[in-house]
Amino acid sequence: MLRIEDLHVKIGDREVLRGINLHIAENETFILFGPNGSGKTTLLMTLMGFGNYEITSGRILFRGQDITHASIYERARLGIGMSFQRPPTIHGLKTRHLVTMCARGRDIDVEGMAQKLNMDAFLDRDINAGFSGGEIKRSELLQLMAQNPYLLLFDEPESGVDLENMKLIGATVRDVLSGGIEPRPETSMKQQRVRKRPVSGLIITHTGYILEYVNADRGQVLYNGHLCCEANPRDILDHISQYGYQECVRCLN
Ligand SMILES: Nc1ncnc2c1ncn2[C@@H]1O[C@H](COP(=O)(O)OP(=O)(O)OP(=O)(O)O)[C@@H](O)[C@H]1O
Ligand SMILES: [Mg+2]
Repeated sequence: MLRIEDLHVKIGDREVLRGINLHIAENETFILFGPNGSGKTTLLMTLMGFGNYEITSGRILFRGQDITHASIYERARLGIGMSFQRPPTIHGLKTRHLVTMCARGRDIDVEGMAQKLNMDAFLDRDINAGFSGGEIKRSELLQLMAQNPYLLLFDEPESGVDLENMKLIGATVRDVLSGGIEPRPETSMKQQRVRKRPVSGLIITHTGYILEYVNADRGQVLYNGHLCCEANPRDILDHISQYGYQECVRCLN
């Protein structure tokens, strides 16, 4: 699904990512840990193609295609979707319209999807205008459900979410990652029976709450622009809780 080869990324004069290598297989969910400021959001924003992130070397392959220099909309059309850590407020754009646009002409049940996420009362409000932290995360998820991408990038989906809403978010993340929301229209019914649509995930978490809901076997720590400590995500979380991120220096050496 995704292959990142020796990726170096600069923001302004500063090299934030210093040689990232990562492979995420079809139907695999990968968990990314790392201290504040280590470059996690930078990695996701670079994968999505945002302009402030200058790729100085390396490449990104998505489903076999080199997308290193593709634009954001090309990546979105190819099937990469992202839930942002801090998405902007967009005055004058109703949530309903953005969700409909995310579906790109597919016939989706906007109301039904919104109800599932307890977001029906938000459809006629401007995107993120006055939304609480948890409401923003649900709105992000609603857009991803409508987009129905192959690769889902989640930047801290549980931050600011209370425990009850965590159940809702966790169950929905699990659903979108299992491709269980709805089939892609380009596959015929026959194809759908034969082969399930592949969906992969890359999730950034500090708390690990999301691990209660998703099936993720692999994780790594991003430390100082390098990936290290590949292991089962739960073991990584235990390790970080016990020893802190200082152990990563040892691992990197
Ligand atoms: N537009 C920018 N201009 C200057 N520096 C930036 C910019 N965007 C990010 N950075 C810096 O790049 C570094 C990595 O930031 P990033 O947001 O990727 O960290 P993170 O690992 O996601 O942290 P957190 O856990 O706090 O979300 C930080 O030191 C940040 O200040
Ligand atoms: Mg971040």
